[in-house]
Amino acid sequence: MTSAKQTISPVRVVKKNGIRVEVYEDAEAVSAAAAAMIAGRITASSKFNLGLATGSTPIKTYDELVRIHEAGELTFSHVTSFNLDEYVNLPPTHDQSYRYFMMKHLLDRVDIPLYNTFVLNGQAVDVDAECSAFEGLIKARGGVDLWLLGIGGNGHIGFNEPGSAVDSRTRVVTLDDCTRADNARFFATLDDVPTHAVSAGVQTITDSHAVLLLATGAGKANAVAAAVAGDCSVDCPASLLQGHDDTTFMVDVQAAKML
Ligand code: GLP
Repeated sequence: MTSAKQTISPVRVVKKNGIRVEVYEDAEAVSAAAAAMIAGRITASSKFNLGLATGSTPIKTYDELVRIHEAGELTFSHVTSFNLDEYVNLPPTHDQSYRYFMMKHLLDRVDIPLYNTFVLNGQAVDVDAECSAFEGLIKARGGVDLWLLGIGGNGHIGFNEPGSAVDSRTRVVTLDDCTRADNARFFATLDDVPTHAVSAGVQTITDSHAVLLLATGAGKANAVAAAVAGDCSVDCPASLLQGHDDTTFMVDVQAAKML
């Protein structure tokens, strides 16, 4: 791994439909570049609101942020985090809940105050109130400065499945069959994958001052091409980022191969 201060250069930069796509050699380089960008922005600010994502793609980026923190070059003491989504009806102690994921991969490994980490409660008695409170909290804290995203094979962001409205807000969503099938690898059986989630909406994400989407591997190539070069359409939720004025995709060569 590289030092925090070393610059990782993309092999190619594509600008299309308002999205800047930085293409890196491999997933390691994507993670190093993403962590360097996030660390740089956190360090440049006296108060930073960071949007976070789960999934396998950002894990190496979180590892790299932890490494930079452990090297004494990054503090999260002034950071507040907001997570994109959570499964409905999984307790936070379940090893597939997104609260569990975030604690394991980042939050428990850095100096972020735990009371400033917000993951939606998928077990809330009043889920709608939970969703409104999440929106209110983001607003009260001054908005998200940078939201880190992955992308689903069908172009979803967070759990905003195809058809999600451009002005959607945090709400309960029904997961697509293909998303449940994609995520079944983390559960004992497909039946164990929750059918519903709570997710920040498309508008919740595009309200963020900046967006950084990561994609690696050939399995994401179609979704990346549709998001960047396709129509701006609810059919591919990530394409709705075309209307955002500070969106960067960091992808590896495999994920960029249809661009
Ligand atoms: C889940 C998450 C998304 C994530 C997607 C892709 O559906 N809700 O936020 O982007 O998985 O995951 P992976 O990075 O494992 O491909």
